[in-house]
Amino acid sequence: MGKHLLLPLVILSLLLGFLQALYCFHCDRVNASGVCVSGERFCETTATEQCYVKKVYEGTTVLFGYQGCRNLCFPFMGCSHKYTVELTCCNSSSFCNKF
Ligand SMILES: *[C@@H]1O[C@H](CO)[C@@H](O)[C@H](O)[C@H]1NC(C)=O
Ligand SMILES: *[C@@H]1O[C@H](CO)[C@@H](O)[C@H](O)[C@H]1NC(C)=O
Repeated sequence: MGKHLLLPLVILSLLLGFLQALYCFHCDRVNASGVCVSGERFCETTATEQCYVKKVYEGTTVLFGYQGCRNLCFPFMGCSHKYTVELTCCNSSSFCNKF
């Protein structure tokens, strides 16, 4: 491969990496009806981030939640007393983190 091909390839791979960024819903507080009541905006993921949705339940009833971009996102489900916290991660498409 000629040396003159290297720079265009580097630029192309940077562009492709750039295009892989996702947009996610961001919300500081989603209420029980799934309506964002505080801090509604979008965020863009970096290479190591994914979109996430976090929901807090009391029993099977959603109390509130959050949405956004998160570094090293791992799905998680945890209970304490009567509350359950569920964290879901996705990177399949932009705005995949619907509440
Ligand atoms: C959630 O917020 C919306 C808009 O403010 C409101 O209409 C709805 O009643 C709220 N739901 C709860 C469960 O508070
Ligand atoms: C995207 O999701 C897949 C499948 O869940 C996961 O293996 C991969 O690490 C994720 N990518 C990033 C950048 O987190």
